[in-house]
Amino acid sequence: MARKKQKKTKAASKKRSRKVVKLAARKPAAKKANGNGHLPRPSSKPFGQDGKALTGVRILDFTHVQSGPTCTQLLAWMGADVIKVERPGVGDITRGQLVDVKGADSLYFTMLNHNKRSITIDSKHPQGKRVLDELIKKCDVLVENFAPGALDRMGLTWEHIHRLNPRMIVASVKGFGPGPYEDCKVYENVAQCAGGSASTTGFREGPPLVTGAQIGDSGTGLHLALGIVCALYQRNRTGRGQKVLAAMQDGVLNLCRVKLRDQQRLKAGPLTEYSQYGEGIPFGDATPRAGNDSGGGQPGWILKCKGWENDPDAYIYFITQAPVWQAICDLIGEPTWKTDPEYATPRARLPKLKQIFGRIEQWTMTKTKFEVMELCNKVDIPVGPILSMKEIAEEPSLRKTGTVVEVDHPTRGKYLTVGNPIKMSDSISEVKRSPLLGEHTDEILSQVLGFKVAEVNEIKNSGALSAPKKEEKAA
Ligand code: COA
Repeated sequence: MARKKQKKTKAASKKRSRKVVKLAARKPAAKKANGNGHLPRPSSKPFGQDGKALTGVRILDFTHVQSGPTCTQLLAWMGADVIKVERPGVGDITRGQLVDVKGADSLYFTMLNHNKRSITIDSKHPQGKRVLDELIKKCDVLVENFAPGALDRMGLTWEHIHRLNPRMIVASVKGFGPGPYEDCKVYENVAQCAGGSASTTGFREGPPLVTGAQIGDSGTGLHLALGIVCALYQRNRTGRGQKVLAAMQDGVLNLCRVKLRDQQRLKAGPLTEYSQYGEGIPFGDATPRAGNDSGGGQPGWILKCKGWENDPDAYIYFITQAPVWQAICDLIGEPTWKTDPEYATPRARLPKLKQIFGRIEQWTMTKTKFEVMELCNKVDIPVGPILSMKEIAEEPSLRKTGTVVEVDHPTRGKYLTVGNPIKMSDSISEVKRSPLLGEHTDEILSQVLGFKVAEVNEIKNSGALSAPKKEEKAA
């Protein structure tokens, strides 16, 4: 009996082990054939018709002004369901800033909040907190760019959020990271100054300058969006959320890294590619402002073109890239510079950049910026016309790619905006108009949170979703 039992057990365990071996053998084989073996089978739907990159991701968007909304707009274009929480009656302050059409949301707001839904909630009202807690349970990411400490003062601490939803990613823009300035409120230009951009922008003999590109706000929004997407990816493995912080000073510095490079190069001697070197002006102990010098190893400058006397944008950026030096000499009518040892090598040219660009400018001034563009590109010389915003708005190729889009809006009519600058072949963005204040409050309460009619009414009657009445305000 016992032997029979033993035999049976042996047979069973053999069977089991055979099974195990079979399974174990299959897995590595599949992995060998395809390093991404854990992924689903490739979709058979046509490209662009199988959802979007972030389909299924829901964002609790507590952002305002520019930096945060830039981030959540990008995520919305990528397919995330972005629910923007706004203060009842007022909303994002930019709705009413720089107004050009009376009674309508400003372009400042509309151009940063496409493809989102809007719900109004007083986050300090007990019923408002109840709604927010439910939203926290239903969302994947909370994005905010309040002043330091404001989220905590609302009661939405990391501990509270994580207790409700351990998978939640909490992403923040702040002006500064931990340190002496961490409690400061920060706007775009403060970040440009504190991140090293202003001290290195402008002309040596003039004051520091801020740039028109919103590298502090929109630049940091971009950094945050990348952090969020990476945190979502990591969550696939760990199952838990994390905090993501993009400080504006850090974001600007990241975009100015070539200037920190130059700061260190100063120890080894003058920065020979700066025109200051050719002009014989000594360097100080910090990276100087370099006017329109190129930030890379190929010297460049902005030159006048035909019509510059009346058109403030009749200019071109001209790069004297070393491999095309011979073509430049032929084009501007200085063929002897091709072989003259004073001009033939990049090293020989460095001390004479001002004079060389002066000669090239004599040539560019005889042509429009578009003619220069055409002639130079034919022979591979890199140049860039200085395009005005008017020219960009009217440029047909940008309309064609969806980088500049016309959008219709119920209260302001048609306007132009910048569409998604990132093009993906299987996640195609359509730009949908920004939401009106609280436009989606009802649908979010009922469809996303599943509140019954009676509960919706109870929350609404509590005043948590509407602006305080005038007499209450006065009292
Ligand atoms: N219900 C109730 N209260 C709300 C609310 C809502 N739905 N939304 C916001 N609030 C409250 C906040 O809780 C805060 O109150 P508190 O100060 O009593 O805690 C208050 O509104 C103001 O928020 P705050 O962020 O301080 O706005 P601000 O207009 O004073 O400052 C910034 C604006 C941009 C300077 C500041 O938010 C900031 O420094 N943000 C981080 C950096 C940043 O993103 N800067 C770039 C902006 S483009």
